[in-house]
Order: sequence, then C-alpha cells, then structure tokens
Amino acid sequence: MHIDPLEKKWIYVVLAAIALFLGVIFYTAAVRNIHPPGHIETVDSASLHLGEEFAEDKLGARAQADGSVRVTLVAARYGFYPRDIRVPEGTPVTFRIASADVLHGVHVPMTNMSTMIVPGYISTVTTSFPKPGEYPMLCNEYCGMGHDHMWSKLTVVARERWNAAE
Ligand code: CUA
Repeated sequence: MHIDPLEKKWIYVVLAAIALFLGVIFYTAAVRNIHPPGHIETVDSASLHLGEEFAEDKLGARAQADGSVRVTLVAARYGFYPRDIRVPEGTPVTFRIASADVLHGVHVPMTNMSTMIVPGYISTVTTSFPKPGEYPMLCNEYCGMGHDHMWSKLTVVARERWNAAE
C-alpha cells in the first residue's frame, strides 16, 4: 500500500500527540493525584443547616483519629464558610464541601485542590499541602454578580504549630 510521505509524516505527528496526551493523563493521575470525579454522595442543599454534617457548629478543620485532617465547608454566595481555614503542612487533608445554593467551584492556586461543588452533591477531595503559607480558596464557576469576590483564606502552618481548636 502506498502512503504519501507527507501523509506519513502527519500520521507520526498525530500518534506522537496522542502518546503525549496519554502520558500527561497517566503522569497527573499517578504522580500529582489528579483524578476525575468518582463516588456520588447526595445531600439536601436546602437544609444543610439542619443536617448532621454541615450544620454551622460542625464546620471547619478537625483532626481525625488516624492523624489526617477533615475540613467541612459550605459554599454559598459569596464565600466558603468558615472563611478562615488552617491546616497543617504535609498532612492528608480531606475536604467535604456542599453548596447551599447554586453551582460553585473551588480552586487553591499552585496546588491540586480543585473541584466543582454541585448543589445536591457532596464534593470530597483529599490532598496535602507541602508548603506552609497563605493561600486563597477561589470560586472558579460563575455563580452570580459576586462571583469575582467569592474567596476565602486557607492557611497552611507547620505541623507542630497546628491546633485544631484555632
Ligand atoms: Cu461561587 Cu463563583
């Protein structure tokens, strides 16, 4: 079978591009822990304040028995509540986030913490933050007039300085 040399060249270019894309997907999944959404958990967005997990006094960062940290957040126009979260560096942190109103997203720049927050569903992300510092938690899904101002503060502190009660 005859294949024009120019066409052959483009076949190689396309195969190389596909190999590159697959490589990036496997690299980010294996090394950077970036995955598509997995399990599905639902919640009644209209009555979060009455529920077990997302009632106001249950929100925030809490140490778990296994040494990890759980952060429970409510996303609502226009912020993530509580507004100020402190977590220890280099420790597995599991975020559990529910929206009280519309579609939001959350993104912590320079980290792999990023997910959509769909009303009616609980978003769960487990990651760890290797570098202490102050990070903004930004909304990255358009949610209304105040979307540009929807952000909260995430502070990563050295392990020995972290205190769940703060
Ligand atoms: Cu919340 Cu944009």
